[in-house]
Amino acid sequence: MNTVVLASGRGSNLRAICRAIDDGRCKARIVGVVSDRRSAAALEFADARGIPTRVVSLKKGGDRDQWNIELANQVASLSPELVVLAGFMKILGPSFLERFPGRIINVHPALLPSFPGHDGPKDALEAGVRISGCTVHIVDDGVDTGPIVAQAAVPVLPDDTPETLHARIQSQEHQLLPGVIHRIAIGDIELNPLKMKAAHTDPSKALSVPEV
Ligand code: GRF
Repeated sequence: MNTVVLASGRGSNLRAICRAIDDGRCKARIVGVVSDRRSAAALEFADARGIPTRVVSLKKGGDRDQWNIELANQVASLSPELVVLAGFMKILGPSFLERFPGRIINVHPALLPSFPGHDGPKDALEAGVRISGCTVHIVDDGVDTGPIVAQAAVPVLPDDTPETLHARIQSQEHQLLPGVIHRIAIGDIELNPLKMKAAHTDPSKALSVPEV
C-alpha cells in the first residue's frame, strides 16, 4: 500500500513505520514524506533513506486555502493509497481533505475524545488522569475529532512531567501506528467513517476494530 507520511518534526513515528516495514511487520511502502517545515528531522531521515520528499510551507499571513491546494497537489503527485499524519502540526482544510476522502489517518498523543489539540500529554497531566495513551483516528475537518481506529493506553505516574508522559505514550505510538497501517494494507481494517461512527453509537453495528 503506497503511503505518504506528513510530518513537521522529529519523525520518530516515521522511523517506527520504516522499522516495521524493514522487519516485515508492516506491508506498506513509504512513497513520500511531505512537510511544512524545511528543517524537520523527518525530512533528513527520509532523504537518507532515499524516500522522495516535498516541502510546502505556509508563510505567516499566507493564503491557507492556496496552501491546502498546493499541499494536496504535492501529496497527490506521489499517488498515495493512504496518507498518514505523523506529527504534522497544521490543521488541514477542506481543499486538502476532499482530495483523499477516508484515506487520511492521524496519530494523537492522548486517548481521544479526551485532550485533543496541541498539548495532549500536558492537558492529561493537568486533569489528573491516571491513564493516558495514544489514538489513531481518521482525519475529518475538526481538530482530532475523526472516527477512532485504534488506541493504546499507558499509566500516568506520580512524578510524570509532560515530557516523560509523552515519551511513554510515544513508545506505544511506535507500535500502534505501524500496526494499524499494516492492518489497513491487508484489508483487516476498513477506513469507512460512516461504518465507524455507526458502530460507536449503535453496538449492534459494532465493527470488530481489531486489537493492534
Ligand atoms: C506524536 O506524539 C504524535 O502523536 C503527535 O506528534 C508527535 C510526533 O512525534 N501528533 P514524531 O515527530 O513522530 O516523533
